[in-house]
Amino acid sequence: MNKIQKFQAVRGMKDLLPQDHDYFTIVKKAIRHRCRQAGFKRITTPLLEQIEVFERGLGNATDIIEKEMFVLEDRSNNKLALRPEITAGIMRAYLQNGLFNLSQPVQLYAIDPCFRYDRPQKGRYRQFWQLSVEVIGARDPSIDAQVILLAQKILEDLKINDHFTLQINTIGTPECRQKFEEALENHFIGKERNLCEDCQRRLHKNPLRILDCKNEDCQILSSIAPKFDSFLDDQSKQFYEKVLGFLEELKIPYQENKKLVRGLDYYCDTVFEFWDKSTGSQNAIGGGGRYDGLGEVLGSSFNIPSVGFAAGIERIIDHLKEADIKPPRKDKLHIFVACLGDIAKKKAVKILADLHDSGVHALGAMGKSSINAQLKMANKFEADWTLILGEVEVQENVIIIRDMKKGSQEKYPLEKAVKEIISKIGKNNLDLYHLGE
Ligand code: HAM
Repeated sequence: MNKIQKFQAVRGMKDLLPQDHDYFTIVKKAIRHRCRQAGFKRITTPLLEQIEVFERGLGNATDIIEKEMFVLEDRSNNKLALRPEITAGIMRAYLQNGLFNLSQPVQLYAIDPCFRYDRPQKGRYRQFWQLSVEVIGARDPSIDAQVILLAQKILEDLKINDHFTLQINTIGTPECRQKFEEALENHFIGKERNLCEDCQRRLHKNPLRILDCKNEDCQILSSIAPKFDSFLDDQSKQFYEKVLGFLEELKIPYQENKKLVRGLDYYCDTVFEFWDKSTGSQNAIGGGGRYDGLGEVLGSSFNIPSVGFAAGIERIIDHLKEADIKPPRKDKLHIFVACLGDIAKKKAVKILADLHDSGVHALGAMGKSSINAQLKMANKFEADWTLILGEVEVQENVIIIRDMKKGSQEKYPLEKAVKEIISKIGKNNLDLYHLGE
């Protein structure tokens, strides 16, 4: 005999059970609401992209490309990657679909799963959901501030904004960053032995990343490294000052953080992250910045200035739970239908269908157990009322409505059952779908 194989979900990938979806629903609602208000439209790009979209977009020397991507080959030997983030795919879609022909900027948002081969731990998964918000095709410091405001408002609506501090910095233009990187490289050369393994690798490829390394020795060496301020050109400085000015106007508190560089090559000028007040940079709930060069890196013949941010939905949900915020239960069962015998079951199935059509949450009319056993089931399903239909009731053309909390019950003519139930539940509590809502 075959041994029964018990499968587990892939490491670092979680099932989203119904109780998780209750939280997902409120988060998605808050996002959709704020995005719509600010004129954003939803986009969904495929889970898989040609690997070059990410390699070129995010940069070969980044952690994501070096060690975190899920890569596969299709049957025609094309190298594909499961998206580790959404921005590069959105830019690819913008170019491919000629969205540059629309009036600019194009404001898009996505709520989709991403994949990173990270070491799984709390708040860090190999499949996780991101909200990504992108404003593509315009360069104006007011847009950077508006994007940050949108993130802030979503956190405010979810009542967890006081869990975070907004960290902000500028990393200037690619030109001044290159000069800074050369200076950093020179600073760290000769001190390699004191750098962690990752930073030794980063030294010649991406020395900027050493600055936000969490390793204590790397941090000590970083604290005496050249400062970016002296490399920043006037234009970048002015742009950054204006972003901060708008944040002040919008009364968004921020902390300037000169060490914040973000991990991806596509960034320029503004970079920001929302840090958990209790854990700091670890498990930031979201982050983003300006990425004016990404379009050209992905093949555009003209510059496409853009700015955006992404937030991790599981991490948002962890904070909702921490704050003891309970999502409303929209799927509470109103009615259980218990029946005995084949004729009663036929009527019960019809009543169930009528209840559903009227917007009532109802289930039942299944199995062959006794009415008592079915009442127990109704209790387990936490139904407010149970409709009871046995052979006698069918003959008399009546139905019993049992109040599960009070334990009392009454008989009604069968044809009045649905109406009676609706009046008990209240019209406002019915779950009816209207196309176009
Ligand atoms: P990111 O900082 O790499 O930025 O990711 C954004 C957020 O995704 C993180 O702050 C975190 O909440 C969540 N996240 C990342 N990795 C994981 C993981 N392994 N498990 C759970 N959550 C995770 C980006 O992805 C950029 N595309 C942001 C952006 C958009 N920049 C401009 N536009």
